[in-house]
Formats: sequence, structure tokens, C-alpha cells
Amino acid sequence: MSESTSSDATARGCHIACIMDGNGRWAERQGLERIAGHTAGEEALADIVRAASARGVGWLTVFGFSTENWIRPRREVRHILNLHKKLFGRLEELNENNVQVRWIGRPFDERGSRTPRYVQRRIRQAISDTAGNTGMVLTVAFDYGSRAEIARAIRKASQFGEVTPTTISAHMYAPDLPPVDVLVRTSGELRISNFLLWQIQDAKVYFTPKTWPEFDADELDAAIALI
Ligand code: IPE
Ligand code: IPE
Ligand code: MG
Repeated sequence: MSESTSSDATARGCHIACIMDGNGRWAERQGLERIAGHTAGEEALADIVRAASARGVGWLTVFGFSTENWIRPRREVRHILNLHKKLFGRLEELNENNVQVRWIGRPFDERGSRTPRYVQRRIRQAISDTAGNTGMVLTVAFDYGSRAEIARAIRKASQFGEVTPTTISAHMYAPDLPPVDVLVRTSGELRISNFLLWQIQDAKVYFTPKTWPEFDADELDAAIALI
């Protein structure tokens, strides 16, 4: 919040998408339980939201939890759910930074959705309480899988007429999400893992060996510099 606005013009309005990986390994390296890594990861995200919005990033989209992540141990899943509750509850600082919150994932009212009601409530609350903000749009992908998103969009496009890239785009979970400028993946994994496959067509990719809890404003600057 105290960070001054950067003069870096390349960040203006750009879309940065992050696969926040390596929380577990970060914790293991510190001799901590994996869940401590998720706690640190949520805090790192709060810092990155501040830094990105100070730099004039227009859109920040983060992969919080995938449709494949439900098979993790129950205790770990519960911990991650609670961290999303915390993240969507950071309304004071989100509003202070003029950040508008959104969410993408399997729609709550559709078959297959697994987001528990207490997290749904927090998500809805955060969206409505930040809807008037005019700064950066923070989109959190939770219970999200890109191939399911694309399959659904094709299904919907075909119900209403011709299936073209334009009509498919119009049926994405968040149709106004612009193309990704830089896709970031932390922790040294050189993979995409079913994230925003439709939206990254022309994206640059920033792979870093740093784990997500270590991803800081300097790392963000290095990613933005690829634009
Ligand atoms: C990313 O960290 C967080 C989620 C996928 C929810 P990981 O938990 O995947 O950490 P590593 O990859 O095991 O180190
Ligand atoms: C990708 O990380 C998903 C999120 C960051 C939420 P994973 O750690 O789940 O990815 P894989 O399974 O290694 O591809
Ligand atoms: Mg991982």
C-alpha cells in the first residue's frame, strides 16, 4: 500500500497470469508442513496484488486451485479453502488499492461444481463489494480447468449458432478477460497445467525457479519486462 506508482509504461493495462506453484516445496525446504507453504503463498499473493496494481497492471489472473487439485489430502484441501476465504475477505486492502475482484471456475449452479457454499459466499461478497473499483482486475481461478471451460464454451456457442473463435470467446467463464500478455509459472516447472489455454494464444511465458512464496516485486518486474 505504501509502494509508489512505477513509471514503467509497459505495465499499463497489461494482463499477467500466474500459475502459483511450489508452495509445498517451499515449505519442505524450510522444514515446515506443506500447508505452511500455502499460507505463505496467500501472503505472497497479497503482496503481488499491491505491487501489480502500483505498476499499472490492468489484469492479474491467478491459478488458486484446479479441478485436479481436489484429490489432495483432505486436510490440505481444507486449508487451501480457508485461505481462499481469507483472500476473498481482504476487502479493506483490495478497496484501498482500487482492485476489482472476479472469479473463474466451474459455475456454482452447474453440474460438477465443487466450490463449497462458504467459499461461494465469500467470492460473491468480494465481487459485489469491489465492483465499483476502477483499478486492476484481480481474477482468481478456483475449481478451474481450462479444457472444461473451452468444452463448455463450444457447447454454448453451438446452441446459439455458428462455432467460431469469436463465438467461443464469447462463452468463456469471463468473456471480457483480455488475452494474456505474460504467463508466469513459478517453481521451475516448465508446464502450463490446464490454465487459460484459450487466452494465452500470443502470451510470452516467464518461467522462474523461484517458488510462489518467493515470487516478489522484482520477479514481477522481470515478467513484465518480457512484454
Ligand atoms: C501450488 O503449490 C498451490 C496449489 C496447487 C494449490 P503446490 O502445492 O503445488 O506446491 P508443490 O508443487 O507441491 O511444491
Ligand atoms: C497448478 O499447480 C495448479 C495451481 C497452481 C492451482 P499443480 O501443482 O497442481 O500442477 P501440476 O499438477 O504439477 O501440473
Ligand atoms: Mg505443484
